[in-house]
Amino acid sequence: MTPPGLAGILAFPPKSRSRPMKKTLAAAFAASLSVLPALAAQPVKVGVIAPFSGPAADFGKQMQAGMDAFFKVHGDTFAGRRIELIVRDTGGPNPEVAKRLAQELVTRDKVDFLAGFGFTPEALAVAPVATEARKPMVVMNAATSIVTVKSPYIVRFSMTLAQVSAPMATWAAKNGIRKVYTLVTDYAPGIDAEKQFKATFEAAGGEVVGSVRTPLRNPEFAPYVQRIKDARPQAVFVFVPAGEQSVAFMKAFEERGLKEAGIRIIATGDLTDDDVLQAMGEPTLGIITAHHYSAAHDSPENRAFARAFRAVGKGLDRPNFMAVGGYDGMAAIADVVKKLGASIDPDKAMEILKHEKMTSPRGPIHIDPATRDIVQTVYIRRVEKRAGEYWNVEFDRFPDVKDPGKR
Ligand code: PHB
Repeated sequence: MTPPGLAGILAFPPKSRSRPMKKTLAAAFAASLSVLPALAAQPVKVGVIAPFSGPAADFGKQMQAGMDAFFKVHGDTFAGRRIELIVRDTGGPNPEVAKRLAQELVTRDKVDFLAGFGFTPEALAVAPVATEARKPMVVMNAATSIVTVKSPYIVRFSMTLAQVSAPMATWAAKNGIRKVYTLVTDYAPGIDAEKQFKATFEAAGGEVVGSVRTPLRNPEFAPYVQRIKDARPQAVFVFVPAGEQSVAFMKAFEERGLKEAGIRIIATGDLTDDDVLQAMGEPTLGIITAHHYSAAHDSPENRAFARAFRAVGKGLDRPNFMAVGGYDGMAAIADVVKKLGASIDPDKAMEILKHEKMTSPRGPIHIDPATRDIVQTVYIRRVEKRAGEYWNVEFDRFPDVKDPGKR
């Protein structure tokens, strides 16, 4: 917003001026200079859009705690400008609400960046707003390959389902798994996961013996899980959105006795989400997943992150992959503020964002400038119990994985 002093001067009619008028103008100009330091010190505004209520409330809470953990470790002021979060709840998945909130953040709150985005449909709904308003849009989860294609102002600091599903398939094929049934949630990221898993697994000599897609809202998993049991595959490959759905799937898997029937679970790390792993407990023991982040990742950066997260996390116990997306996305925004300082030009900001490279709490990451998508290590993990707690313990890795799903 233009400070009132400056706005008053700009609005002055440029008519013929008498001497006293010139004096007044000079005095007003001098006065306006005194507001310039204040202008330079205006906060940089980041509009955060994610669910903070409803079944996926922890998506937003984890992301925000990740961003707050970044501020805790590195401070919130760069090049003299404080970063201010303006947080908006979609209660989603709710693409229409996400779009309206983005429009308001741009026009009314005059944000410099849009950030957050738990669900793909919400990110897709906001993409045209980012393009039209020329606002850098920092994606901290939404993980369908197509997302970054939808606006030149999108950059992603999370993952794609194709990126984690391909290593899962490679690992399974190499480790004696030949016949797999797939179960994914019936929307864009699930379909990406299913397609990529099948393509990579079959290219490596495996066979997908059946596939089901379950509804995004209130799925009743029991009948699908029964169908899988009846097909007697060696393993079921699963993608469901992290959190509530992970819990519901695991419950059905346990109740229908698939473990006893000798059917293993292989999955993307969304299933054994750190946010709910402890609550799911014993039935998750031994589940193998592929993902880009585990709270158990052993590095000094992750230890510092987890410590800061616990201090700011408002009751959240462990960071999950959405928190690390928030942390790294905020690191990138802070880097832009450091480099551009007083004036955040959106195109210059995108140039910087496209070339980000850092040591994240998850390991080394960089953005591929051609796609504005993340390149990172994908880890293979097994759920283990250590000192009474359940953890995704990393035991194998695929370094420098690009999104294989770009069309
Ligand atoms: C997505 O909608 O892109 C999404 C949501 C939750 C996940 C992964 C992807 O766990």
